[in-house]
Amino acid sequence: MAAEPAHTPANSSYDIRVSRQFLDRYRPEKIDGDFTGKHIVSVDQFDQQDLQILFDAASSIRKRAAQGDRGLLSLGAGKIMASLFYEASTRTDMSFQAAMRRLGGEVIVASNGVQFSSVYKGENLADTVRAAGCYADVIILRHPEVGSSYEAAYYLDCLKEQIGRRPAVISGGDGVGEHPSQALLDMFTIFDFKKSFDGLSITMVGDLKHGRTVHSLAKLLARYEAAGTTLNFVSPESLRMPGTILTFLKEHQIAHHETDNLSEVLGGTDVIYWTRVQEERFADRAEYEAIKDGFIMTPPVLAQARADAILMHPLPRKNEMGTPDDHDKLDQDSRSVYFNQMENGMYVRMALLAKVLGGFWV
Ligand code: NCD
Repeated sequence: MAAEPAHTPANSSYDIRVSRQFLDRYRPEKIDGDFTGKHIVSVDQFDQQDLQILFDAASSIRKRAAQGDRGLLSLGAGKIMASLFYEASTRTDMSFQAAMRRLGGEVIVASNGVQFSSVYKGENLADTVRAAGCYADVIILRHPEVGSSYEAAYYLDCLKEQIGRRPAVISGGDGVGEHPSQALLDMFTIFDFKKSFDGLSITMVGDLKHGRTVHSLAKLLARYEAAGTTLNFVSPESLRMPGTILTFLKEHQIAHHETDNLSEVLGGTDVIYWTRVQEERFADRAEYEAIKDGFIMTPPVLAQARADAILMHPLPRKNEMGTPDDHDKLDQDSRSVYFNQMENGMYVRMALLAKVLGGFWV
């Protein structure tokens, strides 16, 4: 499909507000080696070069943080990040906040949570985002609707006409759609442990239908264009990877294989990416109950994996990693890297914020 120009207020004859098809009509800018001032709403904005720039910055920041380098505090000094979370979050919210503070920036939130902001009075997303934009330089948005971050980006573009500057929005996950910053930190973690993506067999397991982390990760792996990557998608029939993602992988010639039989692929896997069944996305409780224990990672299951495999999980975890006892045992296995993944998330988000806010060299 030929690339369409971005439908921003300044350059568009088509008024996106008439259709409200933000996801289909708004084209976020490609990163193209320069993150400065750009909204980050989809992994489609990235290619291999952008990932390498970001990973280099995240590695450098991690090293400098370990050395106690106080110079990091200048990277976000004088800048403000607003945190707008319309859905539950621990890691994404806290790691973005920690990242901003570790860069010397400030964080603002609605004092009693977004549900007690003017959202409670019925204010729409377009207005709440612009209110945050009037105060902040960057906004982190998590919202239950697919495409909400595109809508936020569009209205922040509009805001520029009024206030003369354009705050950036970074998606912290939109519904069952995308979770770009999670995919960036997942890719960084794979690179960290495996040193290359070439020839890797990566197996994603669980709720591939509703899991936005696996949607973004699968697409970003395709965008990286590693040689000989194979993706295995293991799920119950009703929780399979959406067709749009499979088509994307086909177009990018990434080998992929769908199955409901984990043992078919586990022994040959380099990266195991386990996920939670997304209880909150099921309209029918009985359907969730029937499917929730389809795939459970326990120590005996991990015992079937290769000695040099890594086990990732975006977390939070529930019974898809067994009992609390199983959690403890899995945590002791050196192949379990989900806490490294979590900490890496903060460094990757520091790199992302520093780049978006100022294009500083890091
Ligand atoms: C994930 C999410 O919110 O999509 N969590 C996260 O951001 N680390 C995964 C999940 O909730 O299962």
